[in-house]
Amino acid sequence: MEVRKVGVIGLGAMGAGIAQLCVEAGVDTLGREVTPELGEKARDRIGHFLTRKVEKGQLEQGARDEAVGLLSLTTELDDFADCDLVIEAIVEELEPKRELFAELDRTCRPEAVLATNTSALSVTEIAAATTRPERVVGMHFFNPAPLMPLVEIVRAELTADEPFETAFAFGERIGKTPIRCNDTPGFVVNRVLIPLLNDCIRVLDEARVTPEDLDLGMKNGAGWPMGPCTLVDLVGIDVHVHASEALYEKTREPRMAPPPRLVAMRNAGLLGRKSGRGFYRYDNV
Ligand code: CAA
Repeated sequence: MEVRKVGVIGLGAMGAGIAQLCVEAGVDTLGREVTPELGEKARDRIGHFLTRKVEKGQLEQGARDEAVGLLSLTTELDDFADCDLVIEAIVEELEPKRELFAELDRTCRPEAVLATNTSALSVTEIAAATTRPERVVGMHFFNPAPLMPLVEIVRAELTADEPFETAFAFGERIGKTPIRCNDTPGFVVNRVLIPLLNDCIRVLDEARVTPEDLDLGMKNGAGWPMGPCTLVDLVGIDVHVHASEALYEKTREPRMAPPPRLVAMRNAGLLGRKSGRGFYRYDNV
């Protein structure tokens, strides 16, 4: 199916990044936030990153303005009735996602493909909230979405071939490298990355090293583009803890469980880059 109009629901860091990719690829995009102010904040964020591309000679000013012009905003789910593909990027909790998908099932046309950006929840359980689970897929982007090439296209238990391939083709169209995965806990990358990052955080205490030294170690000794503490700060400590808990619940593997140090940081409001403080301090919030 040809995707002429895409909807993105939830315009936080991930949703705004996904919407940015869509408009950069020339796709008419409707974004939804719960208030007009949050929608405008996301538009500003997208505008800012596109302006940086112009300043660095990676994008023409005209193309930037055209891309920004392709983004429209709403607070209403009814406005998604004419979208061919809707990508959900709201809070990473099962019940709110299921409620949203039940609502999308009522408002979107029958041929629409409904995608979730969940990183650790079951796409099948989200799809089960609709009367058309065969048209529900996972499209799992990585943070920061505009920069990370991968998108995992997740086939849930009842996903049909056509919507799955539509999502895969759309991933390619917006410049990503899609891979085909199944609805297993953590799909492919988080199944590996989450326990690995948890190991890194446990090593901090076991080896009594500083976050700076651990990060330098993994960057310079293992070729990681950024150290594990910087990465967990980027992902969001709340998001990482939540994903770890979800994977632990499903697999019962001890390495999946969030390290107590991260849980304590989350409880103290040290969420990483977005809160201004995690392993490191940030002044850009
Ligand atoms: N959105 C849009 N554009 C952005 C951006 C964002 N969030 N962040 C940065 N940019 C733009 C900026 O304009 C920036 O240029 P300026 O600083 O000149 O304005 C430009 O991208 C390049 O940024 P950097 O110089 O920081 O780029 P870099 O070469 O240092 O690479 C990186 C950055 C790609 C993030 C690299 O460090 C990297 O690959 N890190 C690892 C990230 C990773 O592993 N992510 C996966 C997390 S796990 C996950 O997401 C799964 C999950 O489910 C939780």
